[in-house]
Amino acid sequence: ITVDWDAVTAEKGGYEHFMLKEIHEQPKAYRDTMRGRINAEGNKVILPELNLTVEQIKNIRNVQIVACGTAYNAGLVGRSLIETLVRIPVENDIASEYRYRSPIVTPETLVIVVSQSGETADTLAALREGQANGAHVLAITNVVGSSIAREANDVLVTLAGPEIAVASTKAYTSQLIAFTLLGLYMAEVRGTQTEEQVSEILTAMHALPEQVEEILAQKEAIKNYAEQISKHKHLFFIGRGVDYAVAQEGSLKLKEISYIHSEAYAAGELKHGTLALIEEGVPVIALATVESVLEKTVSNIKEVKARGADVMAITHEEHVTDLLRSVDQAFVIPKTLPLLTATLSVVTLQLLAYYASLALGHDVDKPRNLAKSVTVE
Ligand code: G6P
Repeated sequence: ITVDWDAVTAEKGGYEHFMLKEIHEQPKAYRDTMRGRINAEGNKVILPELNLTVEQIKNIRNVQIVACGTAYNAGLVGRSLIETLVRIPVENDIASEYRYRSPIVTPETLVIVVSQSGETADTLAALREGQANGAHVLAITNVVGSSIAREANDVLVTLAGPEIAVASTKAYTSQLIAFTLLGLYMAEVRGTQTEEQVSEILTAMHALPEQVEEILAQKEAIKNYAEQISKHKHLFFIGRGVDYAVAQEGSLKLKEISYIHSEAYAAGELKHGTLALIEEGVPVIALATVESVLEKTVSNIKEVKARGADVMAITHEEHVTDLLRSVDQAFVIPKTLPLLTATLSVVTLQLLAYYASLALGHDVDKPRNLAKSVTVE
């Protein structure tokens, strides 16, 4: 008898790479991160693990979300969630910049540090900076016993399970789920959302795991598109609002593992800068899931089309027919609330980065020059 598998192959659970396995684990990660945090009636978020008191939540005047890399990108979506749900001003900071800009922190500031590993040195230093200035620091992390989890005043754990691939996928989306739960919890305390609004959002959240499966089922088509873009040296991602935040994560993911240069632009900003770089055949990936600004995004798509770009759009089924008049191809994400589209659209972009890296023959799980956890400042 010969044994043709080893421990690593077994850990990959039949997938070619950890990254692909972790992309597929997202429905479970969403469920696990939500489990036990929503009441039986489905109209209230319960976070008994938090030390943050009702009084403290009522007194928060500003929120600062501090992180690195993909966790920083999750914070961009987190900002939009908290501002929409709780109506408190939120700033995003890159952890290595935070300390050196003398941030305005008071005891009424809630600092949220986001870190998959809980060991990133820059993020840990930012946590200490926040605490030194009297802020309450809440950590969103995937590792319970990590340095960040131990030092933070509060920990909201993401239950994504171990993430091995350097390029973060299920940790990012679980961070989005954690931000949504936190935003809903704060909204209840501050009375900024009605019970009906909260239950509508929670119902939509419960549907997300199955909706992710629908996107995973499109992987052959995404792979074909990834093979097309893998022949290019540069490409652009555009989007407005939360689509712009997701564009930034899509661009980072692609750069990290395929080494294709890309930039993410707020769709309306491209014309103020690098529209000059759009020439015949340059791929542009347009995220068009935010209905309230769809028309504007479409006019930005037309601007790049007019300069010869090859445009792929990510949108909802109902807009596909219209959009296909302006773009070359489109991928559909299932319908959800505007607040939650990031948790779906990013999955298409993760698969795209994965298959582009694969097409180029790179080491998907261990990209050059990058480490899973960076413990130096
Ligand atoms: C490293 C990784 C990134 C990650 C970042 C933050 O640079 O290569 O993928 O997003 O650290 O890591 P953290 O563990 O703090 O989320």
